[in-house]
Amino acid sequence: MNIEELKSIANAIVAPQKGVLAADESNPTIKKRFDSIQLESTEENRRRYREILFTTDGIERFVGGVILYDETLRQRTREGVPFPTLLAGRGIAPGIKVDQGAKALALHPGDKVTEGLDGLRERLAEYRQLGAQFAKWRAVIEIDERDLPSAFGIRANAHALARYAALCQEAGLVPIVEPEVLMDGAHGIERCEAVTAQVLQKVFAELDAHGVIFEGMLLKPNMVIAGKKCPRQAGVQEVAEATLRCLRRHVPAAVPGIVFLSGGQSAEEATDHLNAMNAMGPQPWQVSFSYGRALQAPVLAAWRGQEHNVAAAQQALLTRCHLNGLARDGQYERAMEAAA
Ligand code: 13P
Repeated sequence: MNIEELKSIANAIVAPQKGVLAADESNPTIKKRFDSIQLESTEENRRRYREILFTTDGIERFVGGVILYDETLRQRTREGVPFPTLLAGRGIAPGIKVDQGAKALALHPGDKVTEGLDGLRERLAEYRQLGAQFAKWRAVIEIDERDLPSAFGIRANAHALARYAALCQEAGLVPIVEPEVLMDGAHGIERCEAVTAQVLQKVFAELDAHGVIFEGMLLKPNMVIAGKKCPRQAGVQEVAEATLRCLRRHVPAAVPGIVFLSGGQSAEEATDHLNAMNAMGPQPWQVSFSYGRALQAPVLAAWRGQEHNVAAAQQALLTRCHLNGLARDGQYERAMEAAA
């Protein structure tokens, strides 16, 4: 393991104004996104769509890394350039989703655990050869009114995340560690904060026990936010304060960057929250984004699978990346949405 190399990749991904574009939807997930614009999910349509994203001029100012899916890492532009080569040539680190999805945790009704550790060492070696510089593994933690998540569910996911992260660092890849506390449900922001705190506490204890070097990883957490069905939705400042309070208590300062997931927030909300956090002044780590839906929803809506909409789709992506780049400095205002 070359720690200096891991550190320099992690730091480049969260350089000033920059964050991550999550474009690692599995085939079932991208099918859902394409269904929303009545587009068939063929391998060629998936390739065309990712080519639109990755060839957008100007995003390299705001995007330090792109997360790819196994199929995407192996695809090429129309001219035959492999996507990882294209991205690296633009100064954007290519990354790869390596988990194999969340499945029911045996004997723990309702809890899920993420699979994909078997054979992971060999897969990581191949991904690195194909050009990946970092990886992602997502654990899913659900909150319900009564018993979820269980303490053991949290422990099982933290353990898997740490085994994954250690294997990544051994292979020379920066692990993005993603413990996502879902925003589905009717719980209030206080419950989200309590569960997120428990999860982060366990995740960092396991990472430490597995020997993971905090300087060579990135954390991809949820924001602390009320459940979607909760009657009392917290305001922007309340979300920013609760999220930073929780992270400052549980995330070591050695971690170079926090890259939030958007998790079902609208594109505008996700940018608003990121901006409010950065407006609260410097934190021990870079406070950035690794958005999927909050960057791509406007792109899909503009594109709709039509060749004549490609320029508009790319403009939508650049605008969203630019606004999040401004939010990295606390310089975004909602009013800019209208002007953009
Ligand atoms: P969202 O921003 O759409 O939550 O996706 C980010 C991601 O990579 C989830 O694993």
